[in-house]
Amino acid sequence: MYEKVWKHNKIAYGGDYNPEQWDEATWAEDMRLFKLAHIDTVTLNVFSWAALQPSEEEYDFSRLDKIMNMVRENGLKVVLATSTAHHPAWMAKRYPEILRTEFNGMRRKFGGRHNSCPNSPVYRKYAPRLAEKLAERYKDFDNIIAWHISNEYSGECYCDNCEKAFRVWLKNRYKTLDELNRVWNTSFWSHTFYDWEEVVLPNMLSEHFGYEQTMFQGITLDYRRFWSESVLDCYKLEYEAVKKYTPQLPATTNFMEFYKTLDYRAWAPYMDFISWDSYPSVEASPSQMALNHELMRGLKQGKPFVLMEQTPSVTNWQPYNELKRPGVMRLWSYQAVAHGADAVMFFQMRRSIGACEKYHGAVIDHAGHENTRVFREISALGAELEKIAERTLGTREAAECAIIFDWENWWGVEYSAGPSRLLRYRDEVQRYYDGFYAKNIPVDIIGVDDDFSRYKIICAPILYMVKSGTDEKLRKFVHDGGTLVSTFFSGYVDEHDLVTTGGYPGKLRDVLGIWVEESDALPEGKKNSFIWDGVTYESELLCDLMHSEGAEVLSVYEEDFYAGMPVLTCNRFGRGLAYYVATRGDALFYERLIERACDEQRVGQVLETPRGVEATARYNENKKYLFLSNYTDEVQAVVSDAEYVNILSGTRVHSGDTIPLDKTDVLIWESV
Ligand code: GLA
Ligand code: ZN
Repeated sequence: MYEKVWKHNKIAYGGDYNPEQWDEATWAEDMRLFKLAHIDTVTLNVFSWAALQPSEEEYDFSRLDKIMNMVRENGLKVVLATSTAHHPAWMAKRYPEILRTEFNGMRRKFGGRHNSCPNSPVYRKYAPRLAEKLAERYKDFDNIIAWHISNEYSGECYCDNCEKAFRVWLKNRYKTLDELNRVWNTSFWSHTFYDWEEVVLPNMLSEHFGYEQTMFQGITLDYRRFWSESVLDCYKLEYEAVKKYTPQLPATTNFMEFYKTLDYRAWAPYMDFISWDSYPSVEASPSQMALNHELMRGLKQGKPFVLMEQTPSVTNWQPYNELKRPGVMRLWSYQAVAHGADAVMFFQMRRSIGACEKYHGAVIDHAGHENTRVFREISALGAELEKIAERTLGTREAAECAIIFDWENWWGVEYSAGPSRLLRYRDEVQRYYDGFYAKNIPVDIIGVDDDFSRYKIICAPILYMVKSGTDEKLRKFVHDGGTLVSTFFSGYVDEHDLVTTGGYPGKLRDVLGIWVEESDALPEGKKNSFIWDGVTYESELLCDLMHSEGAEVLSVYEEDFYAGMPVLTCNRFGRGLAYYVATRGDALFYERLIERACDEQRVGQVLETPRGVEATARYNENKKYLFLSNYTDEVQAVVSDAEYVNILSGTRVHSGDTIPLDKTDVLIWESV
């Protein structure tokens, strides 16, 4: 259970290094600087396809050989990328079919990146071929610790190849046109299909009148599934290609937090470990950043992940790119580790001099030497990570609570025409997560197919789409003693986005003991309110008008024509409890609700801390590692609950000790 993600005896430290942009004298200088910064791992070969394959017939690995040898001689570990995230210009010229077509029907020319059509036979031939050649050539480099397939798979395509492949995919899924017509409800607006060839991709030329506005949810939903699988197929081809020569090496691709168009949960089984790139916006709260890490950790049932990229200092692609303040790079790096990362990696090692990333932060800035604030902070963290050594590797969190996050539900919720364009799935999940986060209560982000029995509490915010089997799993979970927290806009449809008739929340009605008759979408700024346990809470977004069918009514609306109707209920079902929250409350409401559910289920906090101090724990068979991080602008005091050793300073911490924690500072305590 406590397995490491790869063969490295410490938290890997380094990141994307692009020697193809530099001469060899610079490489030598970089080796010196990496040592100074305690960097031990480089990700190589992310964007080198054009250099590695100058023409259709010719491959040239000479420069890559040189850098591979140089980094090995310098004791560096390598995460070797396959370079397939951007095809060479000659390929686009000779085979225009490799180019993508955009959502509006615009056919792209060569340019940008992540621009190959995943359904192009040419791409599917040459990308795995390159991956295979790399594996064959470098299989004996024992300093390679992982494969990095492609890079940040993203975008979408609406070309003719995709359209043809979509029809094949649909035939495999639905077998008959009758079934296709049924699940898409094509009797609406005279859409009946009599021939598979009549089916076209849903975009601005067909069913859409905006990126998220579709006239046929069922068609768009299936395109989403098809797209995610098409891209996954490309990943799998490369995965199999590298495994031919290096079956022992783990392979991954770098994810991007809540990335809507790829169902990462469906991808996760094909990845040996999860890796992802963290670029929070300057407005992101610590809790938002933490939720991203939880999502990633949850994709492989709690297995540690790799923080493949983050900027050491600054991004270049946000509207304004604020510098990470002194200490913040360290703080955010440890947040990743605290939530399950076994590596701290950066984009990029050296700043390029041309094109769009030349003002993106790097370990080595344009100044070119080590005398910079950023370099000093990086070196200091590198030295600390050496002290931690392998202690935390492979350790796990121990959550008794979970929040469901399901990609197909995400698509369903946000393609829905009505009730409110203000509904955003991630936002609602965040609100529940914030409730746990405020109290340092560990929580896993899980999918509907994960094992529910491991948890005492499961929150399922706006579970609009209840797929076959999910309602039974939830029913059993509650019946066996769990607490379910369900909300407005749940249980409306099945996996085809077809409504479950008979009253919302459809198949969840019995377990929740309520039924919803109507739902009032409040315009932005308009509020209702409710009083619960003596406190008045504001309500917004959606207000369900519902009836209890056995659930206890804990609170009612205060205003409007539905004043007096239930807004918060709790149903006893078997040995468990099922809460229904009929509206969106405020932050305090979520904290109180979660506190109550946790009290009832005897779920504890990691540690009680002042607000703004995050406490997280990772465990193995013998030890607990407590991470304490101060996100406020002032010194805070934390009180220890047991005997620990501070593994960065070596000092002993006794139970009951009050320890000061500076702003942006982090403490890591090991149990004794
Ligand atoms: C992504 C990419 C990198 C780089 C960074 C810049 O994460 O994977 O190649 O473009 O963004 O932030
Ligand atoms: Zn395409």
